[in-house]
Amino acid sequence: MLNTVNEKTKLQARELSAWYGRTPALKKVNVAIPSNSIVGLIGPSGCGKSTFLRCLNRMNDLIRSFRQEGKITLDEKDIYTQDTDIVLIRRKVGMVFQQPNPFPMSVFDNVAFGVREHNRGVNGKKLEEIVVNSLNQANLWDEVKDKLHQSGLSLSGGQQQRLCIARLLAVKPEVILLDEPCSALDPLSTGKIEELLLELKKSYTIVVVTHNLGQAFRISDYIGFFLLGQLVEFGPAAELAVKPKEKVTADYISGHFG
Ligand SMILES: Nc1ncnc2c1ncn2[C@@H]1O[C@H](COP(=O)(O)OP(=O)(O)OP(=O)(O)O)[C@@H](O)[C@H]1O
Ligand SMILES: [Mg+2]
Repeated sequence: MLNTVNEKTKLQARELSAWYGRTPALKKVNVAIPSNSIVGLIGPSGCGKSTFLRCLNRMNDLIRSFRQEGKITLDEKDIYTQDTDIVLIRRKVGMVFQQPNPFPMSVFDNVAFGVREHNRGVNGKKLEEIVVNSLNQANLWDEVKDKLHQSGLSLSGGQQQRLCIARLLAVKPEVILLDEPCSALDPLSTGKIEELLLELKKSYTIVVVTHNLGQAFRISDYIGFFLLGQLVEFGPAAELAVKPKEKVTADYISGHFG
């Protein structure tokens, strides 16, 4: 449920359940994700966080044993209808993974890649402008402006992760999903990604899975706590930090879980 009347829902899951074969992974998840906010998803390993995130841009469609029930809407439109344009959904709802995964090509071409795919008419000066803007938005421009034609794989892990974010921003997404984006990064690079996400939420809606509770509470407006496939609790981060409704949430947050 949303907490203030003037917040607009960007993404919503209603009664979302999911299975891999016969094994349940999500159980009747209901949640509304407000526009221009950061939603942090926490919970122990195997509780369904990544599964839930992948449902939001239909990445689970690629897994053969996967089945789901319930509804997911983006701007109130069901994204699982027969005539949904999946390529468009994945462009609008972009994803960043745990391991930075730049393509084996130059920094410039990494960022230009999606633009060339989605918008073949864009090239020359216009393409250059999009690449520079996206690198700027990802707070990476100053570090790579003299390396645009070097391989993206030659950058540091933290720079590679910001390159992946720049690549995503270049195709103008509306929602950014991140699955443990900092778990392979050192504290300095992690800090840079956190600052970046706080900046990006002005223009995008962000959902981030993290095992780092400090990070979840530093950057999130809302936090969702998953346990055994259920979204046990969802609410403003400030409220969850001091007064979670459920005892299991309190136990998990205080490290007394299990
Ligand atoms: N591709 C898959 N095939 C079969 N089962 C899967 C697959 N992906 C996930 N699962 C199962 O679904 C359940 C939820 O997994 P999921 O990856 O969503 O958890 P998670 O909360 O992201 O865990 P972690 O914190 O370890 O990343 C687990 O029991 C897992 O074994
Ligand atoms: Mg996961």
